[in-house]
Amino acid sequence: MIILSVESSCDETSVAITKDGKEVLSNIVLSQIDIHKVFGGVVPEVASRQHVEHMTQVFSEAILKANITIEEIDFVAVTQGPGLIGALLVGINAAVAFAYSHDKPIMGVNHLFGHIYASQIENEMKFPAVALLVSGGHTELLYIKDHYQIEQLGSTLDDAVGEAYDKVARSLGLPYPGGPVVDKLAHTGKDTYKLPRPYLNKEEFNFSFSGLKSAVINLVHNAEQRNEKIDVANMCASFQESVTDVLVDKTKRCAAKYNVKQIIVAGGVAANKGLREKLAEQIKDIEIIIPSIKYCTDQAAMIGIAAYYQNKIEPAKKDYFIKGDSTLDINQS
Ligand code: KG4
Ligand code: ZN
Repeated sequence: MIILSVESSCDETSVAITKDGKEVLSNIVLSQIDIHKVFGGVVPEVASRQHVEHMTQVFSEAILKANITIEEIDFVAVTQGPGLIGALLVGINAAVAFAYSHDKPIMGVNHLFGHIYASQIENEMKFPAVALLVSGGHTELLYIKDHYQIEQLGSTLDDAVGEAYDKVARSLGLPYPGGPVVDKLAHTGKDTYKLPRPYLNKEEFNFSFSGLKSAVINLVHNAEQRNEKIDVANMCASFQESVTDVLVDKTKRCAAKYNVKQIIVAGGVAANKGLREKLAEQIKDIEIIIPSIKYCTDQAAMIGIAAYYQNKIEPAKKDYFIKGDSTLDINQS
C-alpha cells in the first residue's frame, strides 16, 4: 500500500511517500523557519504564502525521490487540522487537486494522530499505551487502547509546552524557535532559579505552563529594572528542570495507573534532550519509544503512517470535499 501524504499545518511544507504504514520512501520537508525567525514566531499569512510558492516543487521532489510512478500510489492523505487554517487549506487544496486529477481516493488526517504514528516508523507500537504529546500547540496525555482508539486523559489548561519554550526564549533574547536553543543552553547551566513545578502534586493529568512562563518573564523583567544580569544558561536549566519534572512525573503516574505496555513520546518537544534523559532515568520498568528528531517535528511521513491505520477503519474515498479544521481535537476523530 503506497500513500502520498501532505503536511502544511504550520511552517513546514512537506510531502512524503510511505509504504505499508512503515517504510518511508521519501519525506521532503521545506522549513520556513529562517523566514519566520525575523518576526520572532510564525506569521500565519506568510506561512500560507510560502506553502503556495513551494508546494508543487515539494510534491515533485517527493515522487521523484521515492522512485515510484503516480500509478503506484494507492491513495492520498492530508493533514486536516489542527493547525493554521490558511496553511492547512494550501495543503488540502494541493492534495485534493492531485487526487482528483489522478483519480485517487483521499482522506483527511488529524495532525496529532500523525505525531503519535511517527513512533511506528522506527519502532513497533504496543497496546495499551500512554502517549505524551508535546508540541508547539499541544500538551496531552493520551490513552491508546489500540490502533486509532485514542482517548484524552489530560491536556494543558493554557500554554502548550513548546509555546512556553518559545516565549521564555524570546524573553531571554534567544532566537525562534526557542525550544532547541533553550535545550542546548540548559545543558551548560544549573537549576539555580527557584521556579514553580505547576500541577506537579495534583492527581489529575492536566498541565499548566503559563504561570511558569510568566515566572521567568517576571524574573527577567525585574532584573532589567534593577540593572542586574540574568544568567541565561542557568535560567534555561531551571526552566527545563521544572518542565521536565512535571512532564516525566505525570507520564510515569499515568502509565502506572493505566498499566500500559508502552509509553510513546511524540511532537516537536519530544526532541528535547533533557526530557529524553529524565524519562530514561526515571522510568525503567516500561518501554519508552521516541521517534528520532527528524520524525519528532512536523513532516508528512507521520501523516502517511497514520493514514495507513486510519484506512483500515475508514477507507480513503473519492470524495474531494476535505474540510480544513483549526480546532479538530483528538476525541472527535
Ligand atoms: O511538533 P512541532 O514541530 O510543531 C507543532 O505541531 O507545534 O513542534 C514545534 C515546537 C516548537 O515550540 C519548538 O520550540 C519545540 O517544538 N521544540 C523543542 C525542541 N525542539 C523543538 N522544545 C524543546 N526542546 C527541543 N529540543
Ligand atoms: Zn506538529
